[in-house]
Amino acid sequence: MARSKTQEKHTKIKAKLVNASSAKTSNNFPLSMNSAIGVICIAIAVWFVAKGYLETRVNTPYNVEKLVTTSGLDIPDRYWGTYRSGVYFGLKTRDPHSLVTGLMWYFPRSLRYDGNGFRHWCDQGDKLNRYAWLEHDGRTFGVQEIVDNSVVIKTTFVKRPGGYHGGDWTARIAVLPEKEYDKGEEVSLLFYTAIEESTRGWIKANLGDYNRLTGIEGNTKGLGSFIINLNLINGTIEEHSFLATVASGLNVLKETVLQNLRIATEKGSMEKHVVLAGEQLLLLSDGKKEDPNFVVTQVTGRAPFEIEVSYESGSFSNRIDKLTGKNYDEALEKQRQLFSTKFESVFKLKSKGYTDDEITFAKMAFSNLVGSIGYFYGTSQVQSTYTQEPVPYWKAPLYTAVPSRSFFPRGFLWDEGFHGLLISIWDTEIELDIISHWFDLMNVEGWIPREMILGQEALAKVPEEFVTQINTNANPPTFFLTLDFILQHKEHELLKHNFQLLDKLYPRLQTWFSWFNVTQIGDLPGTYRWRGRDETTNRELNPKTLTSGLDDYPRASHPNVIERHVDLRCWIAFAARVMAKLAETLNYSTNKYEETSQYLSDNNLLNKLHWSSNTQMYSDYGLHTDKVILRKSALPPHKQRSHTQSLEMLRVVLEDPSLKYVDTTFGYVSLFPFILQIIDPDSPQLGKVLQDLRDPDLLWTKYGLRSLAKTSPLYMKFNTEHDPPYWRGPIWINLNYLTVRAAYHYSNVKGLYRENARKIYEELRKNLIQNIIKQYKKTGYLWEHYDDSDGKGKGSHPFTGWTSLVVLLMAEIY
Ligand SMILES: *[C@@H]1O[C@H](CO)[C@@H](O)[C@H](O)[C@H]1NC(C)=O
Ligand SMILES: *[C@@H]1O[C@H](CO)[C@@H](O)[C@H](O)[C@H]1NC(C)=O
Ligand SMILES: *[C@@H]1O[C@H](CO)[C@@H](O)[C@H](O)[C@H]1NC(C)=O
Repeated sequence: MARSKTQEKHTKIKAKLVNASSAKTSNNFPLSMNSAIGVICIAIAVWFVAKGYLETRVNTPYNVEKLVTTSGLDIPDRYWGTYRSGVYFGLKTRDPHSLVTGLMWYFPRSLRYDGNGFRHWCDQGDKLNRYAWLEHDGRTFGVQEIVDNSVVIKTTFVKRPGGYHGGDWTARIAVLPEKEYDKGEEVSLLFYTAIEESTRGWIKANLGDYNRLTGIEGNTKGLGSFIINLNLINGTIEEHSFLATVASGLNVLKETVLQNLRIATEKGSMEKHVVLAGEQLLLLSDGKKEDPNFVVTQVTGRAPFEIEVSYESGSFSNRIDKLTGKNYDEALEKQRQLFSTKFESVFKLKSKGYTDDEITFAKMAFSNLVGSIGYFYGTSQVQSTYTQEPVPYWKAPLYTAVPSRSFFPRGFLWDEGFHGLLISIWDTEIELDIISHWFDLMNVEGWIPREMILGQEALAKVPEEFVTQINTNANPPTFFLTLDFILQHKEHELLKHNFQLLDKLYPRLQTWFSWFNVTQIGDLPGTYRWRGRDETTNRELNPKTLTSGLDDYPRASHPNVIERHVDLRCWIAFAARVMAKLAETLNYSTNKYEETSQYLSDNNLLNKLHWSSNTQMYSDYGLHTDKVILRKSALPPHKQRSHTQSLEMLRVVLEDPSLKYVDTTFGYVSLFPFILQIIDPDSPQLGKVLQDLRDPDLLWTKYGLRSLAKTSPLYMKFNTEHDPPYWRGPIWINLNYLTVRAAYHYSNVKGLYRENARKIYEELRKNLIQNIIKQYKKTGYLWEHYDDSDGKGKGSHPFTGWTSLVVLLMAEIY
């Protein structure tokens, strides 16, 4: 009831405002649409052509030369890597279709028949005590520790150049007792080699005495011929078996192994419902040995024991010695030292007085971000208003870091701009390669999909509803943060080595900027609005704004075209500023971007559009009421599944919304003019923002800034029965990093509030670092967000995406 009334009012207001500003709207249509409209008037036949044209725009690549021109073996030292972000340990090459290797393990005494207890993909359900790359340089080596109950599994690898196919590498997998009394714990390790579908090539198992697998050999288009040897180097092995078979895809490797273990168990006529084993559990050949694409070796031993896997490239013919045994120890030690030296020269934590423990922590936070950089290949599902169904994007590779190895092991557009800060300061070349891959995913409209789900493994981890990407939907353009950061810290390197790349990137950036500036424009001049909010739902307390990156952060209660979003406006102001800098660096005309940047940074206009004089804060504007609640309501009869009355939480609007500032909601969004440094240093608004930010009743906590003020009506409120608060209270590190960075900025420019900014800078920075380290020590993880009441880590973990920005906070690099 309340709802239909609301809608009537909403439409009326909309009609009025549209009239008032109708003169300008026609300019905002993309050219193609105008022409399409023209064509319709001329002839129906041509209309069909135009429609076909519009339909295909969403998945037509932006039509200039690609940025990624060297890939695969063109970059031999990054050919092999731990590019399978979502597995505990595995290497593959930067090829669309690669040979992949990986690790699985289980405790024979507790493996369950349903597969529970079997480790392969990083999974929070495995409840591991901790796991992370402790050292990883993104190129040559890595050291990881995985603590699973009573054992520590240590995985290390080192690469070595040689030949023409990416050289050799060796990995060690050590199973060590966590405590002295854990000695003797029985563990089965499985190391596998598989070839992805569409990989041209073969692999086969090499057998020695007693039908024991001694290694694998093969030949693929990318790698040429190779052998992989497996050796025990410490401890004793109780059992050794192998499987060579055909798996139907990378997404079912674990199932394939389990299936064979079950067959083996049944053959041994054991009780099948209790646990799989208790006695030796062997992998048996399943009769599909001809032309296998999946070869697994299983080694069962008692902690401590250690195996070594060495990959040798056939084209490396003048190898003097093997990268095994002592040679391996030495090579690893050398890489570790190089890493430590570089880590100190980049982040200078030792000279800043951090303890060894703190530096070890920082190395882990950094390494697990760099160590989870993945290489994906495939097609996304995309949709536009012109396509009836989702259509496939073009097949493309993506080289990218990921937010979380367990929960989000794939590329996310807005996260990646934050990852880029840490990656670029370490290795600008890697970051530019990542940026190039992302910008090659831009379509002819200037849109880049915001979540990239490429390949079988990635797809297997995403709920259906999140798969399709819609081309009206934006995501914060955080790559401008990265580019700004690179310009600031690495300008010399950029101009000396990467000038051409930057020059080639520039038109794409222009198109990207335009896409935001045109498609996300608001109803009034100088305003912007995130698209993609659901105007019709009555299930959400406040319809989500996934596109903003801040999912359930409260906005106007009734989404409509009049809305204006202050965070988006600041992102675009910031983007224009960076575009102007880039134009200047590249000797292009800066006028257009200077103008837009100045226009959007004009504090008078900003304040007119977004400063609520009522509550003295920056805020969104729209059709809004705070008087909404979720209440159990009966579904309308046609939606009921059965005869029994089903009750569902629905939103009830207790007061008609009206057009106003959303100014009872104070939080991250209100801080954007500060965060992105749009506020003038002398503006009284700056004083007020700093004061509010420091207020414990609003955002300030001992652990960082909470996302939403305690006084906000939707603070810590569920959005539906099933959607717990996400950006409605918890502390997020990406925006805290930007806040610290802004406080640093305002404490270093002339202005009335320098001192306040400096205090906030110091305190906030300290609080964040202390809590993140403390929670790591307590739980073994970096977390997606932190509880604003006790600082505890919450959400997915390990989350060494933007939470690893803690390293830049420690190093004071902004
Ligand atoms: C084998 O493991 C033991 C116990 O962890 C260790 O002391 C020893 O140094 C290891 N030996 C080699 C050759 O790695
Ligand atoms: C940009 O233009 C200036 C003046 O025209 C010139 O001195 C400079 O070398 C140019 N820089 C680049 C990178 O082309
Ligand atoms: C952004 O959009 C506004 C409004 O349409 C326009 O005036 C401005 O020139 C645009 N800026 C750029 C850099 O394209």
